[in-house]
Amino acid sequence: MKHLLSAADLTRAEAVHVLDTAAEMAATQSREIKKLPTLRGRTVVNLFFEDSTRTRISFETAAKRLSADVINFSAKGSSVSKGESLKDTALTLQAMGADAVVVRHQASGAPHLLARAGWLDAAVVNAGDGTHQHPTQALLDAFTLRRHLAGDPALGATSGVGADLDGLHVAIVGDVLHSRVARSNVALLTTLGAHVTLVAPPTLVPVGVETWPCEVSYDLDATLADGKPDAVMMLRVQRERMSSAGGGFFPSPLEYSRAYGLDARRLAVLPEHTIVMHPGPMNRGLEISAEAADSPRAVIVEQVANGVAVRMAVLYLLLTGQHDPQSARVPTTTTTHRTEEAHA
Ligand code: CP
Repeated sequence: MKHLLSAADLTRAEAVHVLDTAAEMAATQSREIKKLPTLRGRTVVNLFFEDSTRTRISFETAAKRLSADVINFSAKGSSVSKGESLKDTALTLQAMGADAVVVRHQASGAPHLLARAGWLDAAVVNAGDGTHQHPTQALLDAFTLRRHLAGDPALGATSGVGADLDGLHVAIVGDVLHSRVARSNVALLTTLGAHVTLVAPPTLVPVGVETWPCEVSYDLDATLADGKPDAVMMLRVQRERMSSAGGGFFPSPLEYSRAYGLDARRLAVLPEHTIVMHPGPMNRGLEISAEAADSPRAVIVEQVANGVAVRMAVLYLLLTGQHDPQSARVPTTTTTHRTEEAHA
């Protein structure tokens, strides 16, 4: 595996291997010195054509914790605004000696084009393309689910190392139509053995969803009460991809919130162990209330923290060729001042 373009490209063994590697990386992050020398001398370019807070910062942190050199490229303020093509941007990055390119683009398929066109030798990591895929988001969600729910006798918490998500029920709720997070999670969580129910108004369910390996419900209250999900993953209503606030997809924000928002009343019907997830950024008061977002069940901030460990794992596995689950080895030696000097 040279690139990470889609969550659907991962086998169960490969996905568990990424999660286990992320667990090793997470363990290094509670040390006083968090930096590993693993990717010293390698260059990671964050190529962001679309806005991001979590993913961009997370990849930058991950690459720096692995001692890689990091170049942050934002389309705003670059020659893209003068009409430069994706090809010429890619050729520039090739000339700069990029070893990995982490790309977010508003166009579905842009990371695949970068990986396949022959413009770059670098590993390409999809950091979210249009409404298509966001594989590292699904991996960090799976990592978070596993930590809280997998391999634990009382569905409480263990590290879950080596485990998949067999038997878990995850409800993914909201704007599925525009969501690369939903598409990535359906692929990855079902590969790992989870049962997924998508819950959305009919207008926000994509054409062809019946071919996806999941159930579809239009009734959030029934799914929460009868399905007793182990996790409820709320999706952001992507108003920027709609023609106006609701864009004709739902009558009004208030009605959407009443039918599909997670609030204190709906939290109260969930099993005690059920966790609440959201990829961020959140529309508080629309798809999730402040009570739900800030409740003890919410693991939303933890998802962000887990994103660093997962992205460290992905960069490490792609750039060192350790992605084969049979032959991998994770370096957990923290950089010390002495090793810094030895490499100077
Ligand atoms: N979850 C996510 O992709 O967030 P950002 O858009 O802030 O990167």
